[in-house]
Amino acid sequence: MRWLARNLRNLGADDYTVLRSLEKGMRTHEFVPVDLIACYSSLRKERVLDLLRKLHDFKLVVRQIGDYVGYKLTVHGYDTLALNALAESGIIEFFGSKLGVGKESDVYDALTPSGRRVTIKAHRIGRTSFTRVKRTRNYVKRGVTQSSWFPISCKSAEREYTALRTLYSYDVAVPEPVYRNRHILVMGFIEGKELAKYRFLPEPRDVIELILENVRLAYHCGIIHGDLSEYNVIVTPELDISIIDWPQYVSIRHPSARYLLERDLRNVLSFFERKFGFRLSLSEALNYVVER
Ligand SMILES: Nc1ncnc2c1ncn2[C@@H]1O[C@H](COP(=O)(O)OP(=O)(O)OP(=O)(O)O)[C@@H](O)[C@H]1O
Ligand SMILES: [Mg+2]
Repeated sequence: MRWLARNLRNLGADDYTVLRSLEKGMRTHEFVPVDLIACYSSLRKERVLDLLRKLHDFKLVVRQIGDYVGYKLTVHGYDTLALNALAESGIIEFFGSKLGVGKESDVYDALTPSGRRVTIKAHRIGRTSFTRVKRTRNYVKRGVTQSSWFPISCKSAEREYTALRTLYSYDVAVPEPVYRNRHILVMGFIEGKELAKYRFLPEPRDVIELILENVRLAYHCGIIHGDLSEYNVIVTPELDISIIDWPQYVSIRHPSARYLLERDLRNVLSFFERKFGFRLSLSEALNYVVER
């Protein structure tokens, strides 16, 4: 994605018009006929063909030659559209290195024009397994195929952004939501490392209390994480915490709310017991979280 960010400068207004027209055409076509791209873009067909050739060289589109000649965006094409939106909105000035590859996202470091460090999370749902997606994401309908990674990833980024906005406004320890475009989310950078990577904590009790306090705060905002574990908690060098990775959150009124809350708590409690020998019962933690 770094080379894509650098590549943004090599593309002109008409290139973006063609990419956006192609995106629009892909709502109805797997491969979009050139005539339709020309129609959406209001550019002459010859000009569109020239631009498509260049975009193909840049690996932003692929061509199908079958019953008809059609094009579709590649993952790089979608990334380019979203990154361009970030650049145009003045959100991102420098694109940094990769911070991590999640199962369902790529995470990068970046700087805003004012020099603030932010994190870019590109959602890539379905990269590992679509069976898993359908099992774990209640907002994904049946009949999902590999080519529908994009709308699902947009939805996932949108959900995470919505959750972060609510939680952050209620002072829950989560990254600050900054911006979202398509499948890409920009949020505040959290210094530190995942809880799972800590071999030693001077006061494990303080850390688990912080986690439970924030699970409780989130609960009283009406939100349950749904995938909480030692991998989705970042512990800062000052031993403060931040809870990340919210796209699968559920409302406390969801039919599986209780089950998911208990699972979240069990994951955290068993980690502390296993790793630091610190015991707390599930019922104690659960009462603390849900009581008014
Ligand atoms: N705001 C942030 N600040 C700093 N690092 C972050 C931030 N958000 C994510 N990361 C890093 O990127 C990694 C992946 O992020 P996240 O857990 O949100 O993605 P994911 O694809 O859902 O991961 P997985 O499915 O593997 O749990 C995190 O474990 C963390 O190391
Ligand atoms: Mg994660």
